[in-house]
Amino acid sequence: MKRTPSLPIMIALLAVVAAIGVAAITAWFQVSDKSVTSTSMVLPKVKIGGPITLTDHTGTRVSEADFAGKYMMIYFGYTYCPDVCPTELTIMTQALMELADSDPEMAEKITPVFITVDPKRDTVAVMKEYVDNFHPRMVGLSGSSDDTKAAAKAYRVFYSLGEPDEDGDYGVDHSSFLYFMGPDGAYRTMFKHNSDPMEVAKTLRSVLEEDGNS
Ligand code: NI
Repeated sequence: MKRTPSLPIMIALLAVVAAIGVAAITAWFQVSDKSVTSTSMVLPKVKIGGPITLTDHTGTRVSEADFAGKYMMIYFGYTYCPDVCPTELTIMTQALMELADSDPEMAEKITPVFITVDPKRDTVAVMKEYVDNFHPRMVGLSGSSDDTKAAAKAYRVFYSLGEPDEDGDYGVDHSSFLYFMGPDGAYRTMFKHNSDPMEVAKTLRSVLEEDGNS
């Protein structure tokens, strides 16, 4: 024996399905909206970026002109950093890998850059060994104390060397932002500490697409 559900029951079921759908869509928008605003930030009216004169991890002197035409993801830190710096450089690497998975040509347009704020310990050789742990195209930049100061100032990066302990070891306090610069050297956006690499990749893609890259 077969029974056909009555009309009121059918209407009630449809209403439940519709309500679940609306709730799911609302939740999705809230989540996606939140993740976008918490990942990337645009700082208005503050100039970020400018001239740099540093040495890369192969020993070549470089300036901002050497990166003209390339997007740059830039992070300032130091190789002795116990956790914050390796985490951020891993996020940078993962975001670029994620982008490369779907669009290798687009990812190629972005150069990951690590600039040390502790050049006394982070020599060219130390930087070479360090960046090799992350993205294969990562550029490690170091310089004199004055050139480091100038670069950090251009990017509004704060850092402060701590007092050495009895072994001569010291920590360095530093701000932790991932800067994304355009091929003209101008600031495009930045990512907060501990951003989700997938969201970073998404933002990188949207900036490049906005610029007409596909
Ligand atoms: Ni650090």
